[in-house]
Amino acid sequence: MKLFGLIGCPVHHSLSPLMHNDAFQTLHIDAHYHAFHVEPHMLKEAVQGLKALQCAGFNVTIPHKTAVMEYMDELDETAKQMGAVNTVVNERGKWVGYNTDGEGFVRALCEQMNVQLCGARILLVGAGGAARGIYFALLQHHVSAVDVCNRTTGKAEAFIKKEKSDVYSLEEGEERLAEYDIVINTTSVGMYPHVEAMPISLRNLKKDTIVSDIIYNPLMTKWLQEAKEKGARVQNGVGMFVYQGALAFEKWTGIFPNTKRMEQLVIQKLGGKPC
Ligand code: ATR
Repeated sequence: MKLFGLIGCPVHHSLSPLMHNDAFQTLHIDAHYHAFHVEPHMLKEAVQGLKALQCAGFNVTIPHKTAVMEYMDELDETAKQMGAVNTVVNERGKWVGYNTDGEGFVRALCEQMNVQLCGARILLVGAGGAARGIYFALLQHHVSAVDVCNRTTGKAEAFIKKEKSDVYSLEEGEERLAEYDIVINTTSVGMYPHVEAMPISLRNLKKDTIVSDIIYNPLMTKWLQEAKEKGARVQNGVGMFVYQGALAFEKWTGIFPNTKRMEQLVIQKLGGKPC
């Protein structure tokens, strides 16, 4: 039996074991996925230990996504660009670090919302690790612009490509909202337990805009609910979670799993319906 896993701190609420173990079972792959709680000061030992145990691959979550990079034998270009690793593959005894978060978001957006990214004008709200991954993945898809608004504008200035992007304050983003085809919240604002908070006001949102929130707890944030009431097409963070996992699964096994089934499992576990 092959061993796969997740390292993070905390990990006890992770839905990754459920999703991956179900896919292994469905596809008759003799493997098991386990979530390991790893304290930051034990990261090096954990990564070495997994290698000693001949673990076939693992996911990395908060707070280790950047710190784990120094323990990789090789890094994929996307992971380097993002400055973070979320998927590690044991390739003939070498740890190779990848990042499927950004592409996971983009695949979910295209496949679940049937979105054409070519020529689209996009606004990202937030400029943290999640925003960065999504930003570079979007740039691969011939978009017209990906602007970034953030509380701390300097964080966005540090990674944007000037020919494709402008940086705005949150207030400027709110003012310009009607200029965009797609608006994406990449911040944690509105996540449980602070469910009343909203990342930016939607007062200028135009009908038919696609509004996506990477949060999936709650499944429908107050921000998404308000966007829906204004006539937007909305997507929660389950899609990104499922597709980043599916892309990791594909790197480990060569098989792209059934994302519909994964999505249903996750939503069921979170106690809701898709939005
Ligand atoms: P992640 O790696 O999950 O993206 P992060 O790097 O801590 O997490 O980034 C969090 C993002 O949420 C940032 O854009 C942050 O804004 P700052 O760059 O100004 O810190 C944003 N954020 C978090 N809490 C916020 C709040 N209360 N209001 C506005 N933005 C917030």
